Amino acid sequence: MTQNSSWKRVRKAVFPVAGLGTRFLPATKVMPKEMLPLVDRPLIQHAFEEARQAGIEEFIFVTGRQKEMLEEHFDYQPELERTLEARNKQDELEKVRASEMGESQLFCTRQAKPLGLGHAIWCARKLVGNEPFAIMLPDDVVLSKTPCLKQMIEAYDETGGNLVAVMDVPREETNKYGILDVGAQNGALTEVKGLVEKPKPEEAPSTLSVIGRYILQPEVFDHLSRFEKGAGGEIQLTDAMAKLIGSQPFNGFSYEGQRYDCGSRIGFIEANIAFAMQDPEIGKTVRSIVKQQAENADL
Ligand code: G1P
Repeated sequence: MTQNSSWKRVRKAVFPVAGLGTRFLPATKVMPKEMLPLVDRPLIQHAFEEARQAGIEEFIFVTGRQKEMLEEHFDYQPELERTLEARNKQDELEKVRASEMGESQLFCTRQAKPLGLGHAIWCARKLVGNEPFAIMLPDDVVLSKTPCLKQMIEAYDETGGNLVAVMDVPREETNKYGILDVGAQNGALTEVKGLVEKPKPEEAPSTLSVIGRYILQPEVFDHLSRFEKGAGGEIQLTDAMAKLIGSQPFNGFSYEGQRYDCGSRIGFIEANIAFAMQDPEIGKTVRSIVKQQAENADL
């Protein structure tokens, strides 16, 4: 696929990770919610690996208080590696190495106050600079053959501009998402005519909702800088994105794959089952356990 020449390549991804994770208390009393393991890797590592597989070179964490563990997780751990090497634990060593970031890859900034997702992204403006960037919400995990962000970057190579991953939701759930006002459809792409954050079901312009994967142009920061409050009294990313419509291409992208809301307990459990069933080492056993458990539950 050829790169649409007028749009720059996406090299950076922003990970807003300052949230409290109150739905997982007491597990998240001390440990950041992004460290909860989905099968064998913390949620933040799933998001990082997806971004890396999509060709992202710089990873920008917007952190907050008690989130230091997220940075440390990606550190080089020489003692641990030496021990694993000495014990000839090659598989484990590879797993540890897959969780390391090289020099000048991880950048952190802090969101001092919880003023909303838009504000969190605004906090990354200096680290992003004047180039397009991806946003990964680690709560949203997508199980797919090709990593979701990779699919998006391939589509962006054709469309340029702004791209948000979208999925259809039941109408009664529109108040949990950013919702599209939809225009023309072309394969996996849907032209975005408008965006509304968490509309009531009866007011939602469609049922096509934004999930936590975005490719945005840096002009979004101009709108975020106004600090306008939206739904729930928060500075909303959706509102700033809506202001780009008309001046730049803006498309929804229907990815191939299944998205799990790991910010909720049910979604997190569902994701653990789905990912474990796909795991090359334990998948087969997990499938028979799930089947057995379902049969037991019927008794
Ligand atoms: C955020 C965004 C929303 C988006 C959702 C996807 O909401 O504000 O537009 O649809 O993520 O998960 P949150 O889940 O943080 O309330």
